[in-house]
Amino acid sequence: MATHGHGGSGRSTVRQEKLDKECELRIEVTADTPLRLRVLTGTAEIFGTELPPEIWITFPPRLKFAVFTWYGATIEMDGPTENEYTADETPMISYVNVHAVLDARRERAKASPSDSDTYQGPRVIVVGPSDSGKSTLSRMLLSWAAKLGWKPTFVDLDVGQGSITVPGCIAATPVELPIDPVEGIPLEMPLVYFNGHVSPSVNVDLYKLIVRELAQTLEKQFAGNAESRSAGMVINTMGWVEGVGYELLLHAIDTFNANVVLVLGQEKLWSMLNNVLKNKPNVDVVKLQRSGGVVSRNAKVRQKTRGIRIREYFYGPSNDLSPHSNISSFNDLSIFRIGGGPQAPRSALPIGAEPAADPARLVPVNINRDLLHSVLAVSYAKEPDQIISSNVAGFVYITDIDIQRKKITYLAPCAGELPSKYLIVGTLAWIEN
Ligand SMILES: Nc1ncnc2c1ncn2[C@@H]1O[C@H](COP(=O)(O)OP(=O)(O)OP(=O)(O)O)[C@@H](O)[C@H]1O
Ligand SMILES: [Mg+2]
Repeated sequence: MATHGHGGSGRSTVRQEKLDKECELRIEVTADTPLRLRVLTGTAEIFGTELPPEIWITFPPRLKFAVFTWYGATIEMDGPTENEYTADETPMISYVNVHAVLDARRERAKASPSDSDTYQGPRVIVVGPSDSGKSTLSRMLLSWAAKLGWKPTFVDLDVGQGSITVPGCIAATPVELPIDPVEGIPLEMPLVYFNGHVSPSVNVDLYKLIVRELAQTLEKQFAGNAESRSAGMVINTMGWVEGVGYELLLHAIDTFNANVVLVLGQEKLWSMLNNVLKNKPNVDVVKLQRSGGVVSRNAKVRQKTRGIRIREYFYGPSNDLSPHSNISSFNDLSIFRIGGGPQAPRSALPIGAEPAADPARLVPVNINRDLLHSVLAVSYAKEPDQIISSNVAGFVYITDIDIQRKKITYLAPCAGELPSKYLIVGTLAWIEN
């Protein structure tokens, strides 16, 4: 049926798109106008999360997504888009087959006695070059699992983007419901470790250290929680797959005891991993095709997306949170930087040793105007020497520094005192606009 205007003068932008089975409608929302969309007939999902019938959903500017249908659907849209087209070739069947295998392993883990090899549910790690669809596949696997009632743990090791919390962190959270296509993962108490930089290359040792801390903490949680343990985890990684980036992938596979490695879109990476992991018979290395729908993002877009993520942390994905502006005295806060501190003097070292900056060295930071616009993590540490190995409670954003009055003004997600006076600064910054 043709769409009619809703009266008045302006032409209606409402239109319908009929999707055949196993097809998807790929959409890029414009930079300034949100898009409204709903499922009129049939069933459809966005990255593993089924859409409710008939209810209009508003998608924010710049979002890139696909509405996929297994059995056919009619979609209605209202508003302009940057780009929209239907694709009948997708790798969704191969993705859902992976999900089926994982589901069987979860069932097996659930039914296994605690001393057996199959007691642990699947630990899936998704790897691949930039823009191969890693974050999207992780999301689908989690949402499909959650739909069946599992509570898999999502682990995000990508400090460049932050799908769980702000960029510059690694984090984990249980996923109890299919992930909302607009709101993303609810920010309820995730387990977060702060790297402070949007690339692990700034301090590789610190990155490895927090990966180990996160893995150990999860291991302890799993030991006491059969439900999480049998559901297992889905680990998302960054697109840096060469050189040190490759070493970091191996480190993550090893540290988390991953037993399913999903390699997206690169034959070479699959073959390298397959080779080094072939002596571990309990690790499956699976090659998967990249979806033609994945949208490449350049450095500028990534930078912008990071800013949006930080903004969302404070203001909520739909601008529904109200952060508080607080003022503290310099004396009430202790700010630290990790690594890159002054090197030990040559005279203090054994003969022949080269002075090197300790990557895990805790350096107290004097509060000055350089901290303006920084995003700092609030540590759960009780003592400074626990800061590096502690997870963080949340973040503050420095909006003013008054050197004369020794006062620091910052934005925090909620009012009241910070959970700790120990703050960590890295290179994570944001200009609010
Ligand atoms: N089938 C699809 N149709 C439309 N858009 C898609 C599709 N799959 C993924 N996208 C979009 O493409 C973009 C890149 O995908 P994704 O973030 O999953 O890639 P990635 O491999 O995780 O990238 P990075 O290396 O930067 O982490 C995202 O905006 C995502 O929403
Ligand atoms: Mg990603």
